[in-house]
Amino acid sequence: MTRSREFAAIILAAGQGTRMKSDKHKVLHPIAGRPMLDHLLGSVDTLGPARTIVVLGSGREQVEPLVGMHGGEVVVQEQQLGTGHAVRETGAALAGFTGDILILYGDTPLVEAATMARMLDRLHADDQPAVVVVASRPENPLQYGRIITGDDGTIAKMVEYKDASPEERAVNLCNSGLMAVRAEDMFALLARVGNDNAAGEYYLPDIVMLAASEGRKSVVIEAEPWEVAGVNSRAELAQVEAEWQRRRRLKAMADGVTLIAPDTVWFAHDTKIGRDTVIEPNVVFGPRVTIGEGVSIRAFSHIEGADVSARAEIGPYARLRPGAEIGEKAKVGNFVEVKKTKLGKGAKANHLTYLGDAEVGEGANIGAGTITCNYDGFFKYPTRIGAGAFIGSNSALVAPVTIGDNAMVGAGSVVTRDVGEGALAVARGEQAERPGWAARFRATMAEKKKAS
Ligand code: UD1
Ligand code: MG
Repeated sequence: MTRSREFAAIILAAGQGTRMKSDKHKVLHPIAGRPMLDHLLGSVDTLGPARTIVVLGSGREQVEPLVGMHGGEVVVQEQQLGTGHAVRETGAALAGFTGDILILYGDTPLVEAATMARMLDRLHADDQPAVVVVASRPENPLQYGRIITGDDGTIAKMVEYKDASPEERAVNLCNSGLMAVRAEDMFALLARVGNDNAAGEYYLPDIVMLAASEGRKSVVIEAEPWEVAGVNSRAELAQVEAEWQRRRRLKAMADGVTLIAPDTVWFAHDTKIGRDTVIEPNVVFGPRVTIGEGVSIRAFSHIEGADVSARAEIGPYARLRPGAEIGEKAKVGNFVEVKKTKLGKGAKANHLTYLGDAEVGEGANIGAGTITCNYDGFFKYPTRIGAGAFIGSNSALVAPVTIGDNAMVGAGSVVTRDVGEGALAVARGEQAERPGWAARFRATMAEKKKAS
């Protein structure tokens, strides 16, 4: 739907976030591996805002780079005198702006772009409300501000919990804090908001009553409680994370991915998974993972920054770290760690192995306990293993080193020099044999023991 007016998003994030008990700014705490504020800015971006303004107070230097990455601006609210005051502080930055304004909260990260669009569209519906407020009916309304509606569904009153009567507190329609207002209305109304209330703060919701006093109605649109859930503490952070994961799991399954035990699989914000992939219990995805179609990811695997091609098999108990590129039908088995390594089509590293800074050709077989020794304490070095090569168990490949195509390395080797194509390299102590030695040794020792 094309909107007739442009809009500015104002994201309030100047609060102290004291209940997080953190040195990290509250809005930078991650959900699914992505800062809360980044989720919100990402949703705003999809609607093409004319302006994005984030209101920040203390700790703003932590947040500024992220705002910049989204082409947003920072407005500083030195003293947190309330939500109304915070929005008023954007007045200078928005001087002359004549579009709509969306008010969002930095600590309410899961609001979807569709809901933001719904807010703007409702503002321009035929009845032309002054303010659109997003409300929800949470199971436990806690200390949320309450919204009292009249018979026609328009807002009769908005009241903060602290200021509310027992009857008002009994109402379960809660203010999420999100609003849509025309810029020209917003600043005219805000100029009249006072702080004569229980908290001594300038309340943003007061603009609704001020508009009503001019005979202009305001309306509510409802959202699901999870979508407008705020994060004030670590416990709430975990709840929002859980909700995000719940929805992501459903989406994965809807997209054709099998999750045997959905509740035990943890996705990152950008995990991509092809259809007919099967994910066993207790799998964790860190950021930047792409999984192809028909892949099998077995139990207890940890995967981040990795690309896995179609029909590969990962785990159980595998660890794929950033830069792992697993080819089609390749296998990474139990207790195998792969970092910055390309594993060719059909190559196998089935047991107890570390592959770092390596390239493994198609169809190569990496024996149990193989280690690429890629680090000398100062620099990292590459290992190249040719197509069809066979690395015997318990070998150490001391990088930089190249193993030619179809070459073999004897088990237990410490390989420090390149191995030619099709050659066998054995680099270990040669086996010696002394016939009868063990029997003689036992006999001598048994005698000694008897005599002692
Ligand atoms: C606010 C609403 C309440 C609503 C609740 C939803 C008001 C007066 N109350 O209450 O009706 O139910 O949110 O979560 O609006 N902030 C600033 N500067 C300030 C104060 C706040 O930037 O001076 C920011 C905070 O960082 C936060 C947001 O505004 O992102 C909300 O502030 P908060 O103090 O949490 O408001 P509540 O008391 O929860
Ligand atoms: Mg709050």
